[in-house]
Amino acid sequence: MIDKATVRRIIDTADIVEVVGDYVHLTKRGSNYMGLCPFHNEKTPSFSVNRQRNICKCFSCGKGGSPVNFIMEKEGVNYHDALVHLAKKYGIKIEEREQTDEERLQQSQRESMLVVNEWAMQRMEHNLTETDEGRNVGLQYLYQRGITAEAIKKFRLGYAIDKGQDLYDQAVKEGYDVQTLKDVGLCGESQQGRYYDRFRGRVIFPALNPAGKVIAFGGRGIKGEAAKYINSPESLIYRKSNELYGIYQAKNSIVRQDKCFLVEGYMDVIGMWQAGMENVVASSGTSLTDGQIALIHRFTENVTLIYDGDSAGIKASLRGIDLLLSHNLNIKVLLLPEGEDPDSFSQKHTPEEFRQYVEQNETDFIIFKTNVLLKGSGNDPDKRSQAVRSIVKSLASISDMIKRSVYIQECSRLLNIPENVLIMQVKQARGEVVEEMRKKREYERIEADNTQVSVEDEIVEAIKTKPDTTTPQVQEDKFAHILRPLERNVIKYCVRYGMLDYGDEVDTDGNMRDIKVYDVVRNEMEADDMLELRTPIYQRIFDRILDMVPEYQQRRNEYMDSINDDLQEVFNQGLDKIASRQLTMDEIIREEEALKAEIMEMRHQKEVQFDKLYIGRLLSNDPDDELRHEVIEMINEKYTLSKYHTKNTKVEDESERLMDLVPRALDEWKDGVLLVKLKEAQSQLKDAVASSNHEQTMAIMEYMQRITEWRREFAKQIGERIILPKR
Ligand code: UTP
Ligand code: MN
Repeated sequence: MIDKATVRRIIDTADIVEVVGDYVHLTKRGSNYMGLCPFHNEKTPSFSVNRQRNICKCFSCGKGGSPVNFIMEKEGVNYHDALVHLAKKYGIKIEEREQTDEERLQQSQRESMLVVNEWAMQRMEHNLTETDEGRNVGLQYLYQRGITAEAIKKFRLGYAIDKGQDLYDQAVKEGYDVQTLKDVGLCGESQQGRYYDRFRGRVIFPALNPAGKVIAFGGRGIKGEAAKYINSPESLIYRKSNELYGIYQAKNSIVRQDKCFLVEGYMDVIGMWQAGMENVVASSGTSLTDGQIALIHRFTENVTLIYDGDSAGIKASLRGIDLLLSHNLNIKVLLLPEGEDPDSFSQKHTPEEFRQYVEQNETDFIIFKTNVLLKGSGNDPDKRSQAVRSIVKSLASISDMIKRSVYIQECSRLLNIPENVLIMQVKQARGEVVEEMRKKREYERIEADNTQVSVEDEIVEAIKTKPDTTTPQVQEDKFAHILRPLERNVIKYCVRYGMLDYGDEVDTDGNMRDIKVYDVVRNEMEADDMLELRTPIYQRIFDRILDMVPEYQQRRNEYMDSINDDLQEVFNQGLDKIASRQLTMDEIIREEEALKAEIMEMRHQKEVQFDKLYIGRLLSNDPDDELRHEVIEMINEKYTLSKYHTKNTKVEDESERLMDLVPRALDEWKDGVLLVKLKEAQSQLKDAVASSNHEQTMAIMEYMQRITEWRREFAKQIGERIILPKR
C-alpha cells in the first residue's frame, strides 16, 4: 500500500506526454500530441494525447486513459505497480503504508466470503457422495446424464440437501457469520426474518476463479423446476460479467493449446472435458462481455465458438462477434450437427471423432459469415447489399490493420467486389464502428450493474417461504435502467465542472456566497427526498467529489499563491515597460489600468482552469477500476450542441452553458424518478383492481393523477429551457 500523499505526488507529477513519450513518438498537432497507437498496429497516427487533461486515447481502438491507466495497459501491471513504475520514472520515493481500516475490513470481508464459499463447496461435495439423499437424487441424476466420477471430482460438483435450512444450521453451528452467508447468496432472509438456504435439492456447480477460489455457485434443478438454474448473486467477490465458468480447470490447457473453446453452459464444459477437450469455458448463457474477453485474452488469442447447427445456432453465431474482433482475437466458429450441443455431441462420439470433427469443420469467423450471408442472399440484390454491409462492418471491427487488410483481400474474392472498393467501404465504416463499440461497452457496464441475476430467484424463494408477502423493494430495481442514464448525466456535469462557479447564493444569514456546480446538485438532493442516486457507481463518484472539497480549497489557495508570484512578476515587467516608454501622466495611468485588468483576467483564467480540471484529474487516477473508467468516459464524451443552438446562437463552450444544462439535467432526473413512481403505482393499481379493492383503487388513481400533473409541469419547465435561447 502506498500512502495517500505519495499517490498524490505521483499523480500530480506524471505528465501524460512524457509517460506516453517513453513508448510512442509524439508530434504536436494543435493543442494535442499525436502518435502511432501502441496498442494496435497502424500506419496513420490515431493516438492522441491531451496534456492539459493529462489523458490519452486511441481514436481507433479506444484504449488509453490517465498516465496510470496507460502504464497498467502497456506494462500489463495492476494499479499499485503502475504507480511504482511512475514513481521510479520521476524519482519519487515511495512510502508503503498500512491498509486503512476500511480497506482491511473489505479485504477481510472478501476473505470471509471466500472461506464460507469454500466450506459450502466442500459440504455440498460431501452431500453428493456421502449422504443417502445426495446419492439417490443428485448423484443418480449426474450419472444418468453421463457425468463420470472423475469429472465430478474435477469440477467439484455437489448437492444441496432439500431442506429449508440444512446448510444454514450447519454453518451457524460451525461458527460462520450469518451476514456473510447472505452476502455470498448461500442463504436468504424471509420477510419474517427467517433464514433459508437458497440452494435446495439441486445439483451444485461451483464456479472457480483463475486462482481456484470459489466465487459463485450454480444450482441445477432436478425436478423440472421453473428456474432450471439458480445462480449466486453478484457480490464483492463475484462480478458475473468478468467471470467464465470452467476457467480454473481450463487455463493450463488453454495456454498449452494456445486456444480456447467457448460454449454456453455448465454441462457443455463438462461434456467437452470428458471428451478430452480441456480448454473450454462457458459464458453461462449470456452474451460475451468485455470483461470475459479480457479474461480469455490473458491466456490466448485464439477462440473457437461452438454453436448448435440449427438455424437458431447459426444466427446466434453471427451475433455479437464484432466485439470479439475488436479485441484482436482470432475467432473461429464451429457448428455442431443440428440438434446437438457440445454436451450431447461429446456423449455420442469418441474424443478422437470429436477432435476430427473440430479440425474439419472449424471455420474462420469472417469467412464463415461471408459464406453464410452469401448463400442466404442468393440473387436478391437487396439482401446482397445488406449482406455486404454487415460483412464490411465486421471487417471494420478488426482493430489490427494488417489482419484487416488480409481479410479484405479474401472477402473481395468471395464477394466478387474489387478490393479497392471494399477498402474504401471498410475505411468509412471504421469510424462508426469505433464509436459504436464505445457505446456498447458503456451499455454493457450498465447491463452488468443491472442484472441482479438473483433478484428473480430471491422473489421466487421469498414467495415460496411465505406466499402473501409483497416486495416493493425489488419492484423498484426493475426500473433502474430508466434512472441510470439520468443520474449519469447529472454526475457527468459534476465530474466535468463540479468545482466551477455556478453563481451566488444568499444563505440563511443573508450573506452572499459563491456556489459551485456540485453545490447545486447537492442542495437539490438535500432539498428533495425523492432524489437519491440509486446507481452505486454514481453515488460513489459523488461521494468522492464531496470528500475532495476540504483539500481542494487548501490546494487551490496554495496554487493561487504560487500563481500570484508569477503574476506579480508579469505585472512588474509590464510596469517597467510602461515606464520605459515616453508617455504622458494620463497615458501612464491608462496603460497601468489596462495592465491591471489584463493581469486580473489572466488570474481568473488560471483559476477557472484549475477548477475545471481538478475533479477529473483526481478521479481519472482513482484506484477503483470501475470508477476510473466511468470518469474517463465522462471526460472524453463530446459535447454536442442541440440543433436549436447550433442554428441560432454562436457555438459556446459547454462550460458556459451550465446555468442551462445543470438544472435541465436535474429536472430530467426528477422526471425520471416520477416516471418510476408512476410505473410502480401502475402495478399496484393492477393488484388493487384484481382484488376489487375500490377504496385502494381510487387512492392509487388519485396518486397517479398527481404524479402525471407534476410531470406535465416538469415537461413545461424542461421544454422552456430548451426553447429559450441563452443570453
Ligand atoms: P442451458 O439451458 O444450455 O443449460 O443453458 P445446460 O448447462 O446445457 O444444462 P442442461 O444440459 O440443460 O442440464 C446454458 C447456461 O445458461 C445458464 C447456465 O449457466 C447454463 O449452463 N442458465 C440457463 C441459467 O443461468 N439459468 C437458467 O435457468 C438456464
Ligand atoms: Mn445442455
